[in-house]
Amino acid sequence: MTTKLRAILPPATIGILGGGQLGRMTAMAAKQMGYRVICLDPQPGSPCGQVCDHQIVGSFDDYKAARELAAHSDVIVYEFENISAAVVAQLEQEFCVPQGSRLLEITQNRVAEKAHLVHNGFPVVPYRVVENSEELAAAATALGYPVVLKSAIGGYDGKGQAVIKSPADLTEVNVSDQSVVEKFLSLEGEVSVIVARRADGEAAAFPIGQNVHRGNILHTTVVPARLSSQLSLQATALGVRIAESLGVVGLLAVEMFVTAQGIIVNELAPRPHNSGHYTLGACYTSQFEQFVRAVCGLPLAPTTLLYPVVMVNILGEHMAGLMEHFVTLPPEVKVHLYGKSGAPVARRKIGHILITTEQPEQAITWAEKVLGVQVSAEVDA
Ligand SMILES: Nc1ncnc2c1ncn2[C@@H]1O[C@H](COP(=O)(O)OP(=O)(O)OP(=O)(O)O)[C@@H](O)[C@H]1O
Ligand SMILES: [Mg+2]
Repeated sequence: MTTKLRAILPPATIGILGGGQLGRMTAMAAKQMGYRVICLDPQPGSPCGQVCDHQIVGSFDDYKAARELAAHSDVIVYEFENISAAVVAQLEQEFCVPQGSRLLEITQNRVAEKAHLVHNGFPVVPYRVVENSEELAAAATALGYPVVLKSAIGGYDGKGQAVIKSPADLTEVNVSDQSVVEKFLSLEGEVSVIVARRADGEAAAFPIGQNVHRGNILHTTVVPARLSSQLSLQATALGVRIAESLGVVGLLAVEMFVTAQGIIVNELAPRPHNSGHYTLGACYTSQFEQFVRAVCGLPLAPTTLLYPVVMVNILGEHMAGLMEHFVTLPPEVKVHLYGKSGAPVARRKIGHILITTEQPEQAITWAEKVLGVQVSAEVDA
């Protein structure tokens, strides 16, 4: 079915709920296209606020603040999941919120997200929902050790997660809220796909990214992914089908595990994604521009990869090493920093590096040296 779309044209105002780096890069793409951009974030001078026309300072569950943003916006988007779904649901009664509250409600809660995936026949890691220690012990026995416990809401970069290798570890963890316990799989690799979708159902996927995590935080993305063309096609089709099942308008990032049994969905994000930062320059269209296009009802633009690329995240602890080498970085290296305020915080993403290269391993080794990445540090089990 084709829904008639009314495009939101520049210089209309895009209101962003959230002021982090994803909002910042979305705002930069939107500004380039001639939109006005405002954002809402509790922290004054947020990464997004720095590049916006205006920032409203307020918390994400403050309906009054969100309404103030909405009153000054022609279209409202969210750039991360921990925005109150109730606030978004209230906003969409009165204002244009193309992503909608249902997508947020599902993807901000692991239990709801997995239930949606299972209900629609998508492959997920074997899991159980638990609410207390007894249920956890029973679930771990049923699934078989090792397992990983993940809080249903609020987790990112591995926060709120614990790997439980044997029954002895059960005493170390505390289940206070609803959580998901998953079988801890032996992975051949991790990949992700970012799908843009318009209200009329037109969808476009970006090339698959191959991701490596360190200490549960995304470390590198390599594109093209070193994946058979059959698996690449399968991963892309899976991403598009999941976006359709959710009626996504905007972007959907689908994180996937590659296992001996095939591709399994790890988790979803209803917004631009860290593993899509490589699209800045390496693709004909960036994920941020595509996000703006999708929510504003503009035609989606080509997602073609222009050159092979490696993305390496910069965490707080890497800032000193980076600054030491800053003036001697080779020309094929692009540094993106997010303008986070205060002293760099360890294990917090403060930027990323993009390197054009046909030799991803070499580029990653070089970047790790420059950033002072502790290569011997504990890597995900
Ligand atoms: N069941 C599993 N089996 C094996 N590895 C896993 C499993 N669950 C998580 N991991 C590892 O931990 C990483 C982070 O897990 P997950 O994506 O669930 O966490 P998150 O905190 O929501 O991360 P994000 O920063 O992507 O939001 C995964 O990318 C993967 O490397
Ligand atoms: Mg993840």
